[in-house]
Amino acid sequence: MRPVTFATRGVLLVGIGVHASALPITVPAWADAEKLAYGKHLSQECTTCHRLDGKGQNIPVIYGLEVDYFRTTMKFYRTGARENPVMNSVAQMLSDEQLDALAIYLATQKPPAKPTQPTRKK
Ligand code: HEC
Repeated sequence: MRPVTFATRGVLLVGIGVHASALPITVPAWADAEKLAYGKHLSQECTTCHRLDGKGQNIPVIYGLEVDYFRTTMKFYRTGARENPVMNSVAQMLSDEQLDALAIYLATQKPPAKPTQPTRKK
């Protein structure tokens, strides 16, 4: 499988409000614009909990996860090999095709910047 490299435009860098003009990302050959758009659409269900700014209450950031990490994790949730009541039911509602679309969309999103200064209060 030959990886294709393409650029995502207008990725919002959280916090500083900068737009990265072109961010080259390597995605698998089966990734295409249609799948990316579908993944983006599906991810709206996830981002109420998994917030882009990383400030969800102990909910991990899912932007920028590796495609294989994401797919394997979601399959663990689907079978119950990884337990979490919310994610177990979320994963059971998604087909393999939907997981693929989500995987490439999330992998191409830039995770929020880590804080540079420690804070006492959140
Ligand atoms: C109601 C809130 C909620 C929604 C909606 C939700 N999640 Fe989650 N998600 C969580 C929580 C809480 C965890 C942490 C569970 C754990 O520790 O296993 C989690 C964990 C994950 C992880 C594991 C992250 C890691 O670093 O290993 C992935 C991947 C994930 N969610 C993907 C998704 C996707 C994709 C969607 C949308 C289809 C989604 N989630 C929707 C609450 C949610």
